[in-house]
Amino acid sequence: MPKLRLDKFLKDQGIAVRSEAKSLIKKGLVSVNDIIVKDPGIHVNTEEDIIKVRGVQIDYRQFVYYMLNKPKGVITATQDKKLKTVLDLFPEEIRRRGVFPVGRLDKDTEGLLLITNDGAFAHNLLSPKKGVKKLYEAVLDSYPGEEAIKKFEEGIYIGDNYTALPAKLEYISKDPVRALVEIYEGKFHQVKRMFKAVGAAVVELKRLRMGDVWLDESLKPGEFRELTNEELLKLSVSNHSSDKLI
Ligand code: URA
Repeated sequence: MPKLRLDKFLKDQGIAVRSEAKSLIKKGLVSVNDIIVKDPGIHVNTEEDIIKVRGVQIDYRQFVYYMLNKPKGVITATQDKKLKTVLDLFPEEIRRRGVFPVGRLDKDTEGLLLITNDGAFAHNLLSPKKGVKKLYEAVLDSYPGEEAIKKFEEGIYIGDNYTALPAKLEYISKDPVRALVEIYEGKFHQVKRMFKAVGAAVVELKRLRMGDVWLDESLKPGEFRELTNEELLKLSVSNHSSDKLI
């Protein structure tokens, strides 16, 4: 039976930090099956018991999943003493659920970043064995030529004794030079290093897609929304192969 301490239930649902949850319970503001309980340590059945705080029913959800349009200028971390992190873009009640970013984008990169508290889901998406595809749009300082397409396809050496896995490159404009790149791994500064290896610098970088899930373009930088069930399903069966970039 899915049993949980009442104060932990309230914390996990983002209602309050553990100490506040205890005090809500002790003040008689929490009921289980319409009976006020004052012991934070009692165990509740998350599937059967009806928990109310100040008379409002709290539905139990173990995991949460969000899509963030990461803006430039924030770091992909859960907390930092000086710099603004992606989690600072989320309200306290969501952060309290123990969410974290799935993988990382550089401080100056924008676009699709998944945020969850589901460790297995994140692990699955990041596992090199799964080779989940990621699509980026890059603005370059110069045109690396058609031969770069072949080099990316063959797997390009990016330094530090590492040759990137085969990737797809497609130019979408020449002035400014804009390209779509699809990669199947996530090494540190990977896309920037791949372009550097063909003589171009990345001026702007945006992640557009992860697995088969696209960034919702109605989200402004800094905005987020929950993933739909359909998107979750796509991510849980994310695969490696695709013939076209889009
Ligand atoms: N590749 C990079 O170089 N930077 C990112 O943020 C993501 C992929």
